[in-house]
Amino acid sequence: MVNGVNKILVTGGAGFIGSEFARHGVKKGYKIVIIDKLTYAGDIERIKEVEKAITFYRADITDKKSVERIFKTERPDAVIHWAAESHVDRSILDASPFLDTNVKGTQVLLETARIYGVEKFINISTDEVYGELGEGGQFFETTPLNPNSPYSVSKASADMFGRAYHRTYNLPVITVRPSNNYGPWQYPEKLIPVVILKALNNEKIPVYGKGENVREWLFVSDCADAVFLVMDKGEAGEIYNVGSGEERRNIEVVRHILKLLGKSEGLIEFTKDRLGHDFRYSLNSEKIKNQYGWKSHVSFDKGIEETVRWYIDNMGWVKGKLAHLNKYWEAVYK
Ligand SMILES: NC(=O)c1ccc[n+]([C@@H]2O[C@H](COP(=O)([O-])OP(=O)(O)OC[C@H]3O[C@@H](n4cnc5c(N)ncnc54)[C@H](O)[C@@H]3O)[C@@H](O)[C@H]2O)c1
Repeated sequence: MVNGVNKILVTGGAGFIGSEFARHGVKKGYKIVIIDKLTYAGDIERIKEVEKAITFYRADITDKKSVERIFKTERPDAVIHWAAESHVDRSILDASPFLDTNVKGTQVLLETARIYGVEKFINISTDEVYGELGEGGQFFETTPLNPNSPYSVSKASADMFGRAYHRTYNLPVITVRPSNNYGPWQYPEKLIPVVILKALNNEKIPVYGKGENVREWLFVSDCADAVFLVMDKGEAGEIYNVGSGEERRNIEVVRHILKLLGKSEGLIEFTKDRLGHDFRYSLNSEKIKNQYGWKSHVSFDKGIEETVRWYIDNMGWVKGKLAHLNKYWEAVYK
């Protein structure tokens, strides 16, 4: 138990980052309770190694009755809210599930946490809520929100609900804004696993525009560590940026992976740019570093090697997603 937190309710714990957090939580000795709807992006395979140590509820966070029942039974000390519709391209195809899950779902959780009381409510946001940068500059926690995609607008709205529940009801809400995560178990619709998968199959690799867009790449275990630190030490009402400082243009990421796999750059196929594509994100993460000593431990070079190795070793898992993915790719890159 740290600072009165023993039992943690992890929403979206069968997702990419939420499952990493849940696996860490079990190793750290916390009682982990997961709520996950198991959308196309959720998969209990990710938490199989800790299944005996966790309590899992298949439930929708927008369903107030289910959420209330779970709070009533479990009485969590902390809520770590990862559950979301998380893919920008899907939000461009259809924004409505983003509104439901990311906005309404967050409000249902905040309201239920208010009724039952929690020590900490960590709202997981994203660097994308700040909008976009040009070649220079950084986003600070104080930078005004200026979200551009339906996804980032839904996340910014959730942040505002978190702010309101802290300000109005004194609910101990803390918002964490991580940069782009990558690592094992990421659903192969996001850039890095798509490139690995396509390259391994010698298929064309779609790259938006000229691949000039810049993202800051954070290894998934470093993100989970930061959130534990914020849960232990963070102050209610505060916001913490979490970025690695490892900025790369998309095309650099693609070339790096091709090189690791010994594949030709001839596989790259530039496609029509994403609608409203943000050019660059870059977080100033000095607050969490200076206040709590957080730093990223996994360099991009090391993390990407580990990730490529993981996908090679776990192709069976990825292949199980292909039927669903092929339909989606047709819609996105048509
Ligand atoms: N992946 C990134 O690079 C990144 C970067 C910054 C912030 N984030 C944020 O971190 C969180 C986790 O991201 P991720 O990449 O692990 O996402 P993910 O898409 O891999 O997982 C999301 C999980 O939420 C579950 N879920 C979706 N709708 C739900 C609902 N209505 N009720 C219950 N469960 C539901 C899904 O089944 C899935 O298990 C999200 O809030 C995302 O916005 C992600």
